[in-house]
Amino acid sequence: MPEIDSLSDLIPVFGRMHPLLLHLPIGMLVGLALLEIGNAIGRKPAASTFLVFFGAVTAAAAAASGLVLHEEPGYVESRVLELHEQLGLATAVCALVVFLLRAFGATTMYRWALLITVGVMIPTGHFGAEMVHGKNFLLEPLEQEEEPAPTVPTPSVEDGPTLASYEQHVVRFFQAKCNECHGDRKVKGGLRMDSPEALLAGGDGGPAIEEGVAPEDQELLYRMLLPIDDDDHMPPDHKAQPNEAEIELIRAWLLAGAPFDAEFELAEGAELPVTEAEPPASETGAQAQAPRAVPEAVLDSMRERLVHVQPVREGSNLLWVDFAAPASQVDDAMVRELLTPVVDWIADLSLARTQVTDTSLELIAVMPQLERLDLRGTAVTTAGLQQLVDHPHLRELVVSRTKLDDAATSALQRLPALEHLWIWDAGLSAEAIEGLRAALPEVVIDAGDLGDSAMLETEEKPEFTSDAPPVDAPSEAEIAAAEALAQKPTINQVCLVSGKEIDPQFNLEHNGQVIGFCCPNCPKTFLADPDKFLAKLESSDG
Ligand code: HEC
Repeated sequence: MPEIDSLSDLIPVFGRMHPLLLHLPIGMLVGLALLEIGNAIGRKPAASTFLVFFGAVTAAAAAASGLVLHEEPGYVESRVLELHEQLGLATAVCALVVFLLRAFGATTMYRWALLITVGVMIPTGHFGAEMVHGKNFLLEPLEQEEEPAPTVPTPSVEDGPTLASYEQHVVRFFQAKCNECHGDRKVKGGLRMDSPEALLAGGDGGPAIEEGVAPEDQELLYRMLLPIDDDDHMPPDHKAQPNEAEIELIRAWLLAGAPFDAEFELAEGAELPVTEAEPPASETGAQAQAPRAVPEAVLDSMRERLVHVQPVREGSNLLWVDFAAPASQVDDAMVRELLTPVVDWIADLSLARTQVTDTSLELIAVMPQLERLDLRGTAVTTAGLQQLVDHPHLRELVVSRTKLDDAATSALQRLPALEHLWIWDAGLSAEAIEGLRAALPEVVIDAGDLGDSAMLETEEKPEFTSDAPPVDAPSEAEIAAAEALAQKPTINQVCLVSGKEIDPQFNLEHNGQVIGFCCPNCPKTFLADPDKFLAKLESSDG
């Protein structure tokens, strides 16, 4: 016999009587309603007041026990539960009103109230049943039965060899350990490993997989098996290395002839690798490659506002977006308006010298593909930077001449992918930068003391036809001058930096010569070392 120390021990038991109690008012109130209908059409005697009282009491008991039951752990708050509870309470209150009206002899009102009570009680019961039996419990038997899904044979460890497949296992391994450098983002050694075609095509050194070659001699596995201090070892020594099971997986796959569709057997005793998969798409916001291309109309609307936008490389859907040309007019609102439709695609973003504030970093922080961010010369502060913390792909960050302070160091230490940081004149003390260098030995931290950075930073700001006045709105004379510059013949036919077609709006006057460029970024590259690019021009002429 369970012990009962006090009456309050019985409260949870009362709660659990809910499934029993709730049926009483249902039977009672529906019965009463039937009696009253019968009586109204003159056939049956009216119900006794006692039964009405009983109906009200049981309705109250059902509601109260339900509330107690809800207190037990394990109930997931949901819309259905909420509706059930509210309607249940309404039913109890209505039932009480019914009783009072009856007791005071207000027969007509009592009958209406009874009808209303039953009307409220029916959905209460419906939502309750939905919670217990699941949605659509009632009508389910009427629905067409679907073909049972074919059962997938699960590879069993005990009987027979362990099976693996390219789709399920090899791809995951490449994603986790190789594609960072051999995929959409980077194509090191000319090799992509993110599709069967790319793997077969191979890289600069020839095919990565060859028919009829022993697994260990295939470039792919050969490199993984080289000693880790060998320069050709893959993945490079500072990266996560494959484990034993992963190497065996690739060996078995190559041994089977590198099948892309069929399953293959692992060596006896070998186990499927537990490859740490990339975080699911829902976490990073998109797959390694943004799935579709951005509609041209969206890009055109950006170009209309003089924002430079182009794929990060040929064939990629990822975007490089540069606000250099309209920089002085660019504020948080404009950034939000233009970038919200393309957040999933931006890999390289320059907001240098724009009017943006910490507000824009909220949006930037959720750009899943972002790898490079240039905020130089903006009013961004440490608070803004903190929003970028834990960004999975941000590799290069330019915060020179921003409004940070020493507290920024802790945020900067929480950028797992960071490789290169430009932090010249960003408000950090020399000690803070020193501390940062000690904490992030792998990151190249350019604080103006590494040689050419100072030159890059103090370089004369290039003037674009479309960006003539850096701060104030262009004066008419300036606009006219810019237009004139765009009309002038250029000394070059194709962009000196990229080799692409030149766009007159980016013409630049340098030492009395008009030089054409394809985009607003190339002039900057040019100005960093004009002689080098001019020499290129001469050699191609001669
Ligand atoms: C951190 C970047 C990085 C990662 C990760 C990486 N590689 Fe590489 N890989 C490179 C670089 C850089 C080269 C070009 C230099 C060279 O040939 O050594 C290269 C070249 C190769 C080549 C030769 C391509 C050719 O045709 O010249 C193969 C094969 C290769 N990697 C396989 C792999 C495999 C397999 C993995 C995963 C287990 C991997 N790599 C992971 C950076 C990486």
